[in-house]
Amino acid sequence: MRFKALRGLRATRTATRAALPASPTPASRPADGEVLLESVGLTKAYAGADGELPVLSGIDLKVRAGEIVALLGKSGSGKSTLLRCLAGLIPPSSGTVSYRGTPLTGANPGTAMVFQTFALLPWLTVRQNVELGLEARGVRPRERAEAAVRAIDLIGLDGFESAYPKELSGGMRQRVGFARALVVEPDVLMMDEPFSALDVLTAENLRGELMELWDSGQFPTRAVVLVTHNIEEAVLMADRIVVLGARPYGTIRETVEITLDRPRDRDSAAFDELVDHVYRIMTGRPKETRLPGRSDTVQLDKRTVANTPLPTATVDGLSGLAEMIARRGGRCDLADLTDELGLDIDDMLPQVDALDLLGFTEISGDDLLLTDTGTAFADADVQQSKTIFARAALDVPLVKLITNSLRGRPGTLVRAGFFRDLLAHHYTSEQVDQQLETATDWGRYAELFSYDAAPQEYRLDESAASPAH
Ligand SMILES: Nc1ncnc2c1ncn2[C@@H]1O[C@H](COP(=O)(O)OP(=O)(O)O)[C@@H](O)[C@H]1O
Ligand SMILES: [Mg+2]
Repeated sequence: MRFKALRGLRATRTATRAALPASPTPASRPADGEVLLESVGLTKAYAGADGELPVLSGIDLKVRAGEIVALLGKSGSGKSTLLRCLAGLIPPSSGTVSYRGTPLTGANPGTAMVFQTFALLPWLTVRQNVELGLEARGVRPRERAEAAVRAIDLIGLDGFESAYPKELSGGMRQRVGFARALVVEPDVLMMDEPFSALDVLTAENLRGELMELWDSGQFPTRAVVLVTHNIEEAVLMADRIVVLGARPYGTIRETVEITLDRPRDRDSAAFDELVDHVYRIMTGRPKETRLPGRSDTVQLDKRTVANTPLPTATVDGLSGLAEMIARRGGRCDLADLTDELGLDIDDMLPQVDALDLLGFTEISGDDLLLTDTGTAFADADVQQSKTIFARAALDVPLVKLITNSLRGRPGTLVRAGFFRDLLAHHYTSEQVDQQLETATDWGRYAELFSYDAAPQEYRLDESAASPAH
């Protein structure tokens, strides 16, 4: 199914604007290049168990009419937070956000949002879900219905008007998400990882249709801000990529203009080069010398639970990567490897970070190279690999902390809550869960400790006799 790019959206735009007397949106259509959104010196910190958690710092950003801006960064770099600040859904801790020159005091009247998780109301039909945005703006029922039908049509949902969300596939649900945002004809469409909950083909199809609509000049908004962790998606869609760096908190690392002709050809050399370029910026890998993880890696003797978070990689996942590198003779170019596998580089970053953290890989020129330990780990049989892994994992502070807390008396039990509380000083509750889940996977595999999920208790593994250093 294709978006109906042929409809006279300009005509409907006027009609809908006329139907929005309550909307504070200025009636004039912003000319190309007009600054629609601007943040100046924006910082944001969340309240954590142990004081403020800084998330964003010193963000100066402009979004102009006529452009698609991608906010690109690893998970946790503050992309969603920045998007929510720009949309006026949450206030910045300091600094300002303006819409067409006017500082925001609440929800941004010029934006509408598409979420990764669709966020549809299950008890409402497609049409009623789409109408929600207009209802909030005080549009009368008949005009609401008409505008909703137009948006539904535009986005390729005709025929589904009276369906309920549960009857729809993921791709169709996200179309409802788009229709609901587009129906209010915001100046800026905000999208928070709108394709990441969809399967690869559906995502690609939806991206393609959206870009077709944008290129046709009939898109009912004047600018798009796209949050993504997917480099290729950013290069495919954006005119400008704003790369956010993570630790210690989100800042703009660099901005990259993408001037490739549209529609863009993923298979072209120029596309590849840009992906590679952005990848290096995103991973903090200064020219040819570093791989992801390295820049954030703390010296072994300075590692703490706070400064050395575990990447979200299972032992299976990181072993799989180690074995692939081993099969390629112990070294490979990560970009080539992910290409061969048909993956995005981003998909592999946690595993790359994990191998780095465990000392199983190092950098040589532009390649990921197995260390001696890494080679031994990849080549070993299961029992040997567990021993090698255990030694390496004990250099990871959280694994060591859990292990050491259990040493002493045999049969000691420690509740997960104990570690949860300790971690809460440095991480959000979501991150705490993630940290514990990964540490548990690693420690169990290494046979350093066992974990019983029902009472949430850790216990020394019978075979782990000697104290961890
Ligand atoms: N409501 C919240 N309260 C506390 N911390 C939060 C909240 N939302 C996000 N965070 C934290 O802020 C950081 C950035 O989150 P987020 O903006 O969602 O990043 P991204 O979208 O790039 O993954 C993360 O460490 C996250 O755990
Ligand atoms: Mg996010």
